[in-house]
Amino acid sequence: MRQQIVAGNWKMNKTLEEGIELTRAIVEKVEKANGLVVIAPPFPYLRDLGNMLKGHKHFHLAAQNCHQEEKGAYTGEVSAEMLASVGCEFVIIGHSERRQYFNEMNDVLAAKVNVTLARGMRPIFCCGEPLDIRAVNMHDGYVAQQLIEGLFHLNEDDFRNVVIAYEPIWAIGTGLTASSQQAQDMHESIRALVSEKYGKTVADLTPILYGGSCNAQNASELFSRPDVDGGLIGGAALKSDDFAAIVAALK
Ligand code: PGA
Repeated sequence: MRQQIVAGNWKMNKTLEEGIELTRAIVEKVEKANGLVVIAPPFPYLRDLGNMLKGHKHFHLAAQNCHQEEKGAYTGEVSAEMLASVGCEFVIIGHSERRQYFNEMNDVLAAKVNVTLARGMRPIFCCGEPLDIRAVNMHDGYVAQQLIEGLFHLNEDDFRNVVIAYEPIWAIGTGLTASSQQAQDMHESIRALVSEKYGKTVADLTPILYGGSCNAQNASELFSRPDVDGGLIGGAALKSDDFAAIVAALK
């Protein structure tokens, strides 16, 4: 069976002290998991929290973003090499907030995917449509284009390290969740697209996570669908009880 993953994206929340407390509580409450548990705190806490996670089975460290260049005069930016050097194993790339507020387009995201893989980390590549695109029933094509332009330049070996997160923008932070059928339909179409490009074996091994108001109440139903391989969690990742319950919902 392919890898199941729950990843918590803290976004721009928590002080260091609060982050340490949250991590301590999560580690205590998640004693076992039917898959990988990924924590993506803000950059300044990566090393401290990564050290807390070390030695705890199932737990892995992620960054929420990285710069697309290897190094150089990019004041305020953080490179993939830096992230790998503090213990990151995953990098979230192309979150809709990065696309929307920081104008990150698919060509830049493709470059971020490249530097992430080149440093031995796995991209969690986000895709998802806005409400007006779903309203006119063009979501499959919209998401397909994001994947083709952001990921499909990779060779098969590199693609095997990719995690895809489908996050309909209208469901992020809104309390509106895609129904488990809507999630399943999109995940199935994403897997079919991957299969067309890389073959069925690779497609069957690619984890596709759902994100967007996934919470302790709806996680089991979402994760029960055959092509939903876990979740990328925002708001509910900030509460240890909720996050632990979501991890427990992994099939
Ligand atoms: P949410 O965020 O769970 O708060 O909707 C999900 C995400 O943005 O990854």
